[in-house]
Amino acid sequence: MKAYQANILFTPTPERFEMLEHGYVVVGDDGNVVGAFASLPDEYKSIELVDYGNQILIPAMNDLHVHAPQYRNLGIAMDMELLPWLNTYTFPEESKYRDIKYAERMYRRFVRDLWKLGTMRAAIFATIHPEASCLLADLLNEAGMGGLVGLVGMDRNSPETLSNTVEEAVRGTLRVLNHTASMPLVSAIVTPRFVPSCTPEMMTALGRLANDNHLPVQSHLSENQSEIAWVKELEPESSCYGDAYRRYGMFGQTPTLMAHCCYTEGEEFELMRKNHVFAVHCPTSNCNLGSGIAPIRRFMNAGIPVALGSDVSAGSGFSIFRVIHYTLQMSKMKWVHGAHKEAFLSLSEAFWLATKSGGSFFGKVGSFEPGYAFDALVIDDSDLNFDNYTLQHRLERYVYLGDDRQLKHRFCQGKEIQAPKI
Ligand code: GUN
Ligand code: FE
Repeated sequence: MKAYQANILFTPTPERFEMLEHGYVVVGDDGNVVGAFASLPDEYKSIELVDYGNQILIPAMNDLHVHAPQYRNLGIAMDMELLPWLNTYTFPEESKYRDIKYAERMYRRFVRDLWKLGTMRAAIFATIHPEASCLLADLLNEAGMGGLVGLVGMDRNSPETLSNTVEEAVRGTLRVLNHTASMPLVSAIVTPRFVPSCTPEMMTALGRLANDNHLPVQSHLSENQSEIAWVKELEPESSCYGDAYRRYGMFGQTPTLMAHCCYTEGEEFELMRKNHVFAVHCPTSNCNLGSGIAPIRRFMNAGIPVALGSDVSAGSGFSIFRVIHYTLQMSKMKWVHGAHKEAFLSLSEAFWLATKSGGSFFGKVGSFEPGYAFDALVIDDSDLNFDNYTLQHRLERYVYLGDDRQLKHRFCQGKEIQAPKI
């Protein structure tokens, strides 16, 4: 057992921060939080104490939607909307991951950058390539970080260099599942790229795979108007885009992440609510590709679970703090354009999305309540905190102004995580 002393903030509920100035988090040998306390209870007085002084201690970030094989395209190619962007920039880059040497060079940097920006767990799209996908799982596991790695299924409207067969997608996913069986924090996730990339045969097989093995599912939903119109043409029997996943058993039959959901309404909204499908909000990506503004307040009011995603490389960086910042700004744009009817998000709400709400996809992750994994960041904000700011304002300034330079320690499941080698 160990106790960490610092200025502690976390969000057991979205409405407000739990704040403990010079408080304590006690962590058990299993890496789970025993409790967070304003003063150290007598029973823990004899355990090892780590004193972080005036620094800030918060739960680590969770990225619920990110494309590892788009690493090289970070910060470039923002001049097109989704569909031409995929064909022109993304598919050619992902095709390169057939070469395991190239994959290793990029995936090492990918894991290092997740670490650098304070993301300890991620739901990741890999590519169609099983060897590179297993390597990505190895690198996360060696780093001590958590994640779900998705071998991507795509067998239509995709270049020959980036297509797999139904059998290859199923076998590849099972290979990642077996490969990660002994890894404590890394596992596999069923990953149909999106409806336009998957034939009904692919969807049927991946839906069966998810349901037979109780595996989670991740994909894209209602990101862009042209994409939605295309899905209508491709899947005329489906009543909405979301229904095209539901009919194949991949819309909440097992835990499901759907990235974007910019235009989700009506029946699709109801389906997400009823089936507890996560809407993964990717506001930096939605700005870069001009996709739209997702109705996050409406999702939250209806009880649809929401998480945050960087969506690298449509999103132009790994920082989930940056995604929180954009979540707040975009929610204000939504508020303005919706005649001020639905309130914009507060800092604590956006922080909760990044920590406890997103973390819930990995188990008890994203809070310092008893039983939660001790995934944590220690922030030395002394360069930003040059006057008497309140603790909440210090965190707010870090969200808006900070970067990796202030991140001093990172923990995942109770272990301090050192910089992964690139
Ligand atoms: N839809 C299908 N594939 C992708 C992708 O790689 N990125 C984004 N943003 N949307 C997608
Ligand atoms: Fe994406």
